[in-house]
Amino acid sequence: MKTVKTLFDNNRQWAAKITQSNPLFFQQLARQQSPKYLWIGCADSRVPANEIVGLLPGELFVHRNVANLVIHTDMNCLSVLQYAVDVLKVRHVIVCGHYGCGGIKAAVEERRHGLIDNWLRHIRDLYQRNRAGLDKAGNRAAMIHRLCELNVKEQVINASNTTIVQDAWRRRQDLSIHGWIYDIHDGLLKDLAVTVGLKR
Ligand code: CO
Repeated sequence: MKTVKTLFDNNRQWAAKITQSNPLFFQQLARQQSPKYLWIGCADSRVPANEIVGLLPGELFVHRNVANLVIHTDMNCLSVLQYAVDVLKVRHVIVCGHYGCGGIKAAVEERRHGLIDNWLRHIRDLYQRNRAGLDKAGNRAAMIHRLCELNVKEQVINASNTTIVQDAWRRRQDLSIHGWIYDIHDGLLKDLAVTVGLKR
């Protein structure tokens, strides 16, 4: 119980610190949120969305799942995307993967991990479709490195192909989908240069 209590202590300190720098911060934020970005990232505890990009509460709408997947039948992810695009009118959707992703590694292992293998099957399919190229990476670590990047690109395509994003572009809404990757070894982000959006 001691460790859980620590979280409440931390929370009071955090709220006090923010209120100290801006006494109206929470009051203003409680009225409305108007984030410009939607982050679709991995659930991994080493990839904390707001902290990585230095954004405060209210500035980043966030969806996270194992291995940052955008699956066409995932009502959770699609609902977040729809609300972000149609209601909040975010300008940027960022699909952010990370090197050393446990989900990616597990997807190409030959052993069972439980229910999650069904979720990870999407990555295994991606691996099998691109096996010829991926196996040229040299060793397994390099192959997984590439698969982490390829998975981000695939999810950018998936997000772009949703009815939500297609309809937004059809009505000329300012919306770009980006593919980024985060390196847990140095804390740095890399743009995979696969941004999709309307030409203006
Ligand atoms: Co991960």
